[in-house]
Amino acid sequence: MKSRLGVNVDHIATLRNARGEGHPDPISYARQVMNFGANSITIHLREDRRHIRDEDVAIFSKIKRVPINLEMAANNEMLKIALKYKPNFVCIVPEKRNEITTEGGLNITKNKKIIKKVISKLNSKKIRTSLFINPNIKDVFASKKLNAKCVELHTGKFALKVKNNKNYLVEFKKIKNSATLAKKLGMEVHAGHGLDYKSTKILKKIKSIEEFNIGHFIIGESIMHGMKKVVTNFRKILNK
Ligand code: PXP
Repeated sequence: MKSRLGVNVDHIATLRNARGEGHPDPISYARQVMNFGANSITIHLREDRRHIRDEDVAIFSKIKRVPINLEMAANNEMLKIALKYKPNFVCIVPEKRNEITTEGGLNITKNKKIIKKVISKLNSKKIRTSLFINPNIKDVFASKKLNAKCVELHTGKFALKVKNNKNYLVEFKKIKNSATLAKKLGMEVHAGHGLDYKSTKILKKIKSIEEFNIGHFIIGESIMHGMKKVVTNFRKILNK
């Protein structure tokens, strides 16, 4: 069965911002990536606006043929933005000001109240909600309790083991068990973080994962081989 591919274009915005001008344009890239076979585009609006900016969210949200997955922290500022621009999907992620990338899944227990509020408001506007969680049973049950429509399992630890040719079986099992449970509880299962060709190929064996969200590797690899080639390669993996 085919799995969906979401491509994160934050790094295109990072490159654009480095020059303080308009090139490269994440929106043009997103359109091309969709032409090459991606199913959605992920953008992360961070508190410090280090890559994607509010104007990007405004423009992206208007493009009908580019389904947008907005990653955001669970707070009132971001909720207001999501309700204003109404992206197709929202993935709630933890955010630490000085982190280089999203370091782990949500601490659901600690942030239960605000996550519940954000999900409930977004659900009422028919915006698909997803929680970025570490692959464990406890967080899958907690996500269901908060009425999330999907979970995105953090694949960072697993992907790193694969990349370093270490034994990844323990991490793989965590992802598999969490994915199986989430699906059984009626949630859609996504996976993302740190994935490359090899780790995606391995995770594709888990049938309950319906969507893969990939950023860094696709953008990095595209510098050498071009976006078309890289997205096509991922499509081949995910079509099997
Ligand atoms: N999914 C989520 C929720 C993320 O926060 C990120 C990183 O922004 C990704 C997927 C993509 O991770 P990577 O850039 O390592 O492929």
